[in-house]
Amino acid sequence: MVEFRFDIKPLFPQPIIKVTSNLLPHTFRGDRRQCLDATTKMSEIIDRLGQLSATSQGLSKPVTTAQRLRMSDNQTIYLLADSEAGHNGAVTGLLKVGTKDLYLFDESGQTRKVEQAPSILDFYIHESRQRAGLGKRLFQTMLNEEQWTPLKCSVDRPSEKLLGFLSKHYGLQRIIPQANNFVLYEGFFNDVAPAN
Ligand code: ACO
Repeated sequence: MVEFRFDIKPLFPQPIIKVTSNLLPHTFRGDRRQCLDATTKMSEIIDRLGQLSATSQGLSKPVTTAQRLRMSDNQTIYLLADSEAGHNGAVTGLLKVGTKDLYLFDESGQTRKVEQAPSILDFYIHESRQRAGLGKRLFQTMLNEEQWTPLKCSVDRPSEKLLGFLSKHYGLQRIIPQANNFVLYEGFFNDVAPAN
């Protein structure tokens, strides 16, 4: 379980919160001092979960840090917490998404430029809670909030577990080969105009 030296409950009035570059939970209301305190705590949460995600994927450095989120203008992190766990509650998952301008191959091998393609950038559920449906819950909340469909998501360097997850929950199996690290599925280009 991912616990902190502080009580996470005030930051999680609901199990799933969204965080963007201001490093505050989307639900947050408070004065300047409270904002400062909340951003410090959120940074610690994001850095810790980002590090755990990197370790579990065997990456040498994290894809997700509070600093990177602060500098971004189109990334959102969804965090899942269990406020009943332990004394201070625990944060159990992280999902980072954003949009990317990508040059991609379509099904026929033609290059297409896709602007602001929905992208899955980092995804992690704590080892003690994997395979219990929490990933699905976090991912589904993200899809609803962003108004994205799974088929239209590009996935940055997915792990075997994530490929299994997308196949199981969303029937995504037929990959369109790319030259970059992104994985797309057949149907991604339906309704996308060819690049000129
Ligand atoms: N081995 C193989 N497949 C797995 C595993 C595992 N250890 N764990 C989850 N899955 C896949 C399977 O398809 C599984 O279905 P099954 O149990 O019937 O085989 C399905 O996910 C389970 O769905 P959920 O319970 O909703 O998923 P979970 O809460 O475990 O979250 C996640 C999925 C985020 C991939 C999680 O397993 C995890 O954090 N893994 C380690 C980190 C990781 O690989 N993250 C993705 C990196 S790539 C990227 O972020 C772009």
